[in-house]
Amino acid sequence: MDSRLSVIRKILGKPAFEEPRVLIYQLDALEAMALLPDELVDLTVTSPPYNIGKAYEYLMPLDSYIEWTRNWIEQVYRLTAPFGAFWLNLGYISIPGRARAIPLPYLIWQHVPFYLVQEVVWNYGAGVSTTLAFSPRNEKFLWYVKYPKQYTFNLDSVRDPNVKYPNQKKKGKIRVNPLGKNPTDVWQIPKVTTGEGMNGRRASVERTAHPAQFPTAVIERIIKACSNRGELVLDPFIGSGTTAEMAIANERAVVGFEINDSYVNIAAERLSKYLRKRQLQDAQGRLFDELYNNTISLKRSAG
Ligand SMILES: C[S@@+](CC[C@H](N)C(=O)[O-])C[C@H]1O[C@@H](n2cnc3c(N)ncnc32)[C@H](O)[C@@H]1O
Repeated sequence: MDSRLSVIRKILGKPAFEEPRVLIYQLDALEAMALLPDELVDLTVTSPPYNIGKAYEYLMPLDSYIEWTRNWIEQVYRLTAPFGAFWLNLGYISIPGRARAIPLPYLIWQHVPFYLVQEVVWNYGAGVSTTLAFSPRNEKFLWYVKYPKQYTFNLDSVRDPNVKYPNQKKKGKIRVNPLGKNPTDVWQIPKVTTGEGMNGRRASVERTAHPAQFPTAVIERIIKACSNRGELVLDPFIGSGTTAEMAIANERAVVGFEINDSYVNIAAERLSKYLRKRQLQDAQGRLFDELYNNTISLKRSAG
C-alpha cells in the first residue's frame, strides 16, 4: 500500500473500501481531515454540498454554511503539501432580495488561505432552460495552490490535439506544439446525463445513481495537469467516486470521504468494476506481448 495511505489507515482504521492505491471512508469530511497530519496530500479535487436543498444536503443558515466551508477548507490547506494544489467546484445560490444566483466563491473569497491561480469555466452544452435570464451553461472550478511561485502544471500532458491549423508557420518554422494547443480556461465538456424520459438511452456511459456526478473528463484533466504519478489525491466529498477512479486510472493514490452510506456503496461498486476491467486489460496486454515476442523469436529462428 502507498506509504501515505498506510499513515491514514493507521489513524482512521478500516475503511469502507480499500485497494492498494485507494481508501474510501464513510466519515464526516471535517472530522476525518482534522485527525490527519499536516502536508500529507498533493492535490485535492472536490465539489462540496452547495446548501441548495439537494437530496444529500442538510440545509444550513447561510452564515453557518460559510463558517463550515471556511473550516473544511482550512483543513485542506493544512493537509496540502508545500507545492500542492486545491481544485474547488462550487455552484450558485440565491439570496432573497440580493441575488437570483450568486457564485458561492464570491461569498467565501476572504476565507480561503490558498493563492488563486485561475478560475476555469466548465461549459456544458445542454441544461435547464429559463425565461427570466439566460439559460445557465457553466460552472466554475477554482484552481488554488499553496505557493504562487512553485506548483505542478503538466501542460504537455493535457494539450488539446485538436488544432485547427496544425501546419501554421512563422519564419518557415511550424508554430504549433506537436502535442497540441493549451486547452484554455474554458473547458467544453458535456455534463453527466441521466437520460430520464428516454428509457435511459441518452444517459452518459459513466452515469451512476449519484445525483451530482462530475464528468470524468474534467477531473482527469485536473489530475493529469496538477499532480504527478505516485502522488496522493484527496476528495473530501467523494460522492460516486469520480475523483478516485480518475486518480487510480492515472497512477495516483487516493483517499476519499463520504457521509452517505448509499453513495459510499455506489463509489465502491464503481471502483471495483473499474479495477476488474483494468485487470482484464492488463492480462490481455501481457498475453498480446507474449504472443508478439513468441512470433518474433519464431521468425528469427526460421530466418
Ligand atoms: C456534490 S456531491 C459530490 C459528487 C462527486 N463529485 C461525484 O462526482 O460523484 C457532494 C457529496 O458530499 C457528500 N457530503 C455531504 N456532507 C458531507 C460531509 N460532511 N462529509 C463527507 N461527505 C459529505 C454528499 O453526500 C455528496 O455525495
